[in-house]
Amino acid sequence: MLKRIKPLGWLVIFVIMGLLFTSLSPLASGQTLNATKLSNRQTDIKLIDKLPSQFPDISLNLETIARNDYHIQIQRPSTKSETINVILQDWINEKKDSFIDKFRDTSANSKEEAPSLKIDVLTEQIKDDSYNFIFTLKEAEQPSETRVFNVNIKQDRELKLDDILKIDDSTLKTLHEQLEESFFEQETSVSDSVLEHFFSDPSAWNWSVNKNALILYINAENNSSTLKATVPFEALYLHFTSDITEIIDMSAEQKQERINAIEAEQERIRKEKEKQKEQEKRKAEEKARQQENSPVNNGENKYVALTFDDGPSKEVTPRILDTLAKHGAKATFFMIGNQAKALPGTAQQVAAAGHEIGNHTMDHADLSKLDAGSIRKKIGEAADSIEQATGIRPYLIRPPYGAYNDAVMNDAVNQGDSLILWSVDSLDWQSRNADAVISEIQKEITSGAIILMHDIHPSTADALPRLLNWLESQGYQFVTVSQLLNMQGQHGAGPYYGNIK
Ligand code: NI
Repeated sequence: MLKRIKPLGWLVIFVIMGLLFTSLSPLASGQTLNATKLSNRQTDIKLIDKLPSQFPDISLNLETIARNDYHIQIQRPSTKSETINVILQDWINEKKDSFIDKFRDTSANSKEEAPSLKIDVLTEQIKDDSYNFIFTLKEAEQPSETRVFNVNIKQDRELKLDDILKIDDSTLKTLHEQLEESFFEQETSVSDSVLEHFFSDPSAWNWSVNKNALILYINAENNSSTLKATVPFEALYLHFTSDITEIIDMSAEQKQERINAIEAEQERIRKEKEKQKEQEKRKAEEKARQQENSPVNNGENKYVALTFDDGPSKEVTPRILDTLAKHGAKATFFMIGNQAKALPGTAQQVAAAGHEIGNHTMDHADLSKLDAGSIRKKIGEAADSIEQATGIRPYLIRPPYGAYNDAVMNDAVNQGDSLILWSVDSLDWQSRNADAVISEIQKEITSGAIILMHDIHPSTADALPRLLNWLESQGYQFVTVSQLLNMQGQHGAGPYYGNIK
């Protein structure tokens, strides 16, 4: 039969076949075929709906994808700022893509059991062109997660936490306290490690602001949903940036409260400074009083500063005062704040006898193990208690255990105090034996020494009469620590040890 087709006939056949192929080609690459293929496998339904938005500058779409292997439902906000849209869509798309990568082509038994990704957004106006976009993301079996974007549409930028708050130690401390309070009220417990991690990087925080509060969102690890802490504006008035009222919408009442809070804080600081000035003045007066009767150091006479720590005590301190009085000797008593508080009468007796009074902290704390704030507290509270009992504000500090570091030194420098150590340890705390105390001092004594003793051991009171007799026989004069420093021309923060042999 082919034999009967002429060359012209072949040409006609080629043309017809060519036409047929061209007309069928959309089937090979176009959507019709693709859709047929997918509908066979996944029943893919993809919808974009426009949702109502309460803000004219923001539109909201709902994207829905329903397949046998997964479901997706995403609320996508869109603003007049392209820059911001890119930021928002990039985040959404990244979440969507990673979800799809995880679940594409996984076989679920039925549509109902297919894993789903749901991203909802709550939009709140911060002020004018500024908005919070609070996204809640819920993926398959995982706990929900919150991601917040704060934006200014007009300025084409994200708002950062430091637009709102001064990020410094004081602010972070307040936020830490507020978070703990908020979780306590919610009866939620948050581990220290989660909080520590959270506070290690404030720039990564998810936060939003409403009319009354800053909200912090903590995406905790370990299968729990986002924790939410509410920090009321009242707690933040002192920590807001100076142009906060430009950024967030405050009521007239809140603005006034903020001004009041700032004024009250300035007043508190002013009073605190005034108080410190008065304390410094009283310390200076006491210093002058101590130095008034300083013997002259002509290089010939011998002198020694006796010091007594850890008192006052009910039994031992009065015995020591008696002995000193018999010899007309002046000494220095480094009192523990709690002891002065418990025995104000005894503390007062020491002061009335004209001895010098120093500060041995509130409760014999090892200052070298504390932070600057705690060091100040331990010393400051002791100074208050001692002043309360004796009328004298001490400026000589003896750190318990002789333990000090740069932070302790800094405190002394800031306060105009002096750190006083010792050059001769009587070891009375160890031997608890009068003879041993005397021989230890006899072994180590030299002119200009500062001797460490304790007015809490009866054995020390036992040793004192013989010790003073012997020191006098050797030509020693008894001076207070301030007198000794004055004779040695020392007036700074120290530390001072006294002379060694
Ligand atoms: Ni002590």
